[in-house]
Amino acid sequence: MELKIRNGKVEDLEESFILERRTFLECEAASKENIKIRLSEFSDGFIVGEIGGKIVAHINSGSTNKDDITDEEFKGLIGHESGGKNIVIFSVAVDPQYQKQGIASEMMREFIEVSKKIKKKNILLLCKENLIGMYEKMGYENNGISASTHGNAVWYEMVYSL
Ligand SMILES: CC(C)(COP(=O)(O)OP(=O)(O)OC[C@H]1O[C@@H](n2cnc3c(N)ncnc32)[C@H](O)[C@@H]1OP(=O)(O)O)[C@@H](O)C(=O)NCCC(=O)NCCS
Repeated sequence: MELKIRNGKVEDLEESFILERRTFLECEAASKENIKIRLSEFSDGFIVGEIGGKIVAHINSGSTNKDDITDEEFKGLIGHESGGKNIVIFSVAVDPQYQKQGIASEMMREFIEVSKKIKKKNILLLCKENLIGMYEKMGYENNGISASTHGNAVWYEMVYSL
């Protein structure tokens, strides 16, 4: 079935939140409020993937000129600068039923195009050790362990230079 990728809109809030809760541990999933803020304040950096009219994947983000992306408040777009040089991915989520079919790869390719269009210089994200290989295959470089201790986990900072 064909994956249709488009920018998110506030009307997607319920579906995107359900997806977030289905894909992440409760302690790591974004709050509904933060998803709403990301959809309403930075829809340029929020893409959703639909199959048969149902949202099965999303990527959302904020933007900043800062290089330190560990600030928890930033997840609610406090400190977001729409013209910032860095675009920071908060969530990459694919519905468990649709995982391992190349959907994250397709969404991440589109996210690179979107980021180029809005003239960002770098895409940054934090991931756990098991996903370093996946992001490296997508062209990201590993900047090493991040200062973030979110959810008491060890996070790695990955960067893609546009
Ligand atoms: C991680 C996630 C986004 C991958 O989505 P997906 O659509 O299954 O990924 P793809 O099918 O495009 O796979 C891309 C590559 O990454 C690999 N990969 C996918 N999930 C992986 C995982 N959990 N661990 C390690 N490698 C993984 C795939 O094997 C594939 O490699 P290949 O090209 O050699 O086959 C999805 O499993 C998910 O939503 N997980 C829960 C949320 C999460 O952890 N998100 C990432 C942190 S923000």
